[in-house]
Amino acid sequence: MNPTEPDPRPPTVEEAVRRRRATPAFDPARPLPSPLLERLLAAATLAPSSANLQPWRFLVVREAANRRRLRACARNQPKVTQAPVVVIVLGYHHPDRTHLEPMLAMQVASGACTLERAAEARGRAASALRDVRDRALWATRSTMLAAATLMLAAESLGVASAPMEGFDAEAVRREFGVPDDHSVCCLIALGYAAEERPFPGRFGLDEVCYAEHFGRPWEP
Ligand SMILES: Cc1cc2nc3c(=O)[nH]c(=O)nc-3n(C[C@H](O)[C@H](O)[C@H](O)COP(=O)(O)O)c2cc1C
Repeated sequence: MNPTEPDPRPPTVEEAVRRRRATPAFDPARPLPSPLLERLLAAATLAPSSANLQPWRFLVVREAANRRRLRACARNQPKVTQAPVVVIVLGYHHPDRTHLEPMLAMQVASGACTLERAAEARGRAASALRDVRDRALWATRSTMLAAATLMLAAESLGVASAPMEGFDAEAVRREFGVPDDHSVCCLIALGYAAEERPFPGRFGLDEVCYAEHFGRPWEP
């Protein structure tokens, strides 16, 4: 292949993981087509979640005036108004297990689960949820996997992303009507990069991996 020609092949998952960067600046003149945005949101919903309860909720902010309001809640980060789309990623705490039955019905209908297994899963999920002490943490665990899935799906389809935790959650709640049983987990800006950012580096496996027991050095 001619190395000067762009590679028409979609990246593999590993290539998308390697290429993704937290985009520092977006091109405000380049919108994100709605079908592509919808495809990314749908991909995010394929993330794994505790008991398949899918606690993520995506509040999609596209209107310029609303992105200006969101920027004011997000330490005035310019990305929020540059990017054509900013997703407020919410984790729903499921206080009443309202989604357990529809989820089980879906699994039975799709053939992923028999009625008997659904009954077992109902018992397990109900008791597991009853034991959850920190529901916001419970929701955040699964929701951040959906956030990561969204960013990797974006990268694989040529869309730049930027995760943000620099925001005032109470201000976001107030401005966008988010109820208390939803955690504001992060913001994700989506669009097209105006500026590339070099790979900022990662600690090696010798720093972040252990073998068999905490603190025991990892060996390949
Ligand atoms: C939970 C989380 C919150 C972040 N919050 C911000 C933020 O508020 N503003 C920002 O510019 N970058 C933010 N970042 C981006 C990180 O700085 C970036 O991911 C990190 O420097 C590594 O760079 P890379 O993602 O390009 O590899 C956040 C990333 C994560 C995962």
